[in-house]
Amino acid sequence: MPPPLVDPFARAISYLRVSVTDRCDFRCTYCMTEHMTFLPKAELLSLEELDRLCSAFVRMGVQKLRITGGEPLVRKGILTFFEAMGRHLQSGALKELTLTTNGSQLRRYAADLAAVGVRRVNVSLDTLDAAKFAEVTRWGRLGQVLDGIAAAKEAGLAVKINAVALKGVNDDELFTLAEWCARDGHDLTFIEVMPMGDMGEVQRLDQYWSLKDLRTRLESRYTLRDLADRTGGPARYVRLLETGQRIGFITPLTHNFCESCNRVRLTCTGELYMCLGQEDMADLRAPLRASPEDVLVEQAIRNAIARKPKGHDFDYSRQKIAGQMTRHMSHTGG
Ligand code: GTP
Ligand code: 5AD
Ligand code: SF4
Repeated sequence: MPPPLVDPFARAISYLRVSVTDRCDFRCTYCMTEHMTFLPKAELLSLEELDRLCSAFVRMGVQKLRITGGEPLVRKGILTFFEAMGRHLQSGALKELTLTTNGSQLRRYAADLAAVGVRRVNVSLDTLDAAKFAEVTRWGRLGQVLDGIAAAKEAGLAVKINAVALKGVNDDELFTLAEWCARDGHDLTFIEVMPMGDMGEVQRLDQYWSLKDLRTRLESRYTLRDLADRTGGPARYVRLLETGQRIGFITPLTHNFCESCNRVRLTCTGELYMCLGQEDMADLRAPLRASPEDVLVEQAIRNAIARKPKGHDFDYSRQKIAGQMTRHMSHTGG
């Protein structure tokens, strides 16, 4: 067994997020511009190459693999890739194989995902209002996503709804969203909007709704009990005593959670980002293609982890954006 991956701040790296495509069938306003240019398909790693890289990480101690995008389910042949990763679940090396999706393709894939060993999915859904949904996602249709979520449930998958807290968009839907999730048995996690990809400072700051405020609003109607539950990601959870449901908060702005960071991110071109909020990355494609053995790849991974930074520098206080990233969330997969 190779030694585990530990970064300079003594954090063990056990969670790999893999963005299998930067493409998406939606164009959410806080995530992308309407006319995004995507990577030429020729630059993508093949699914076999992604398999080789992920398998190297699993050998080196990664226990949780989350497939993201763009929208992961629009990548051609994606099920074959999930099947391939399923073998690491069967061997016991991997504890969890999961995905973050916009839900548009879940009707088609949910049963097959469950069959390869996926147990839960995170679905991005910011609003339950069809007109607003069309506005936020530009190209999405709410009905299709709700149907995808229903399909996931039918297939026995647990669903966690991810909602980016957006002032002027879903701040009037807090209770509606919570009640809908309680009724249908989904976990719900709110996320503070991060400065990923330039959307203009004014727009981003206008959108930003701090989860401190959101929590206070929740407390006006429900009794919140802090939970020690962890799902392996940065969310911290509460239970609403009246409904019994669990609600998570991901607070990169109001409460930095980087000290417990356990993850790195691989893009579809083989870039390894050691932090969502920093520009530094390591190229794994060159060592991957230089040799059919994995010695070079493993060395490149270790070298990269050895320079994992302490955390991001996102900050909106003083009404200015600090820590802005040039790349969009769809590049690294959130
Ligand atoms: P589980 O805990 O397994 O449910 O997953 P997760 O919260 O890690 O995954 P999910 O894809 O639902 O993540 C939700 C969002 O949280 C991501 O899309 C990011 O926006 C944010 N997030 C996840 N990890 C980090 C991180 O390391 N730093 C920051 N700033 N944000 C993160
Ligand atoms: N800030 C916070 N969350 C974002 N997401 C996309 N862009 C941003 C952003 N700028 C979310 C999506 C999805 C997850 C992958 O990241 O809504 O839930
Ligand atoms: Fe696509 Fe997700 Fe970005 Fe929306 S947030 S455009 S669904 S990648």
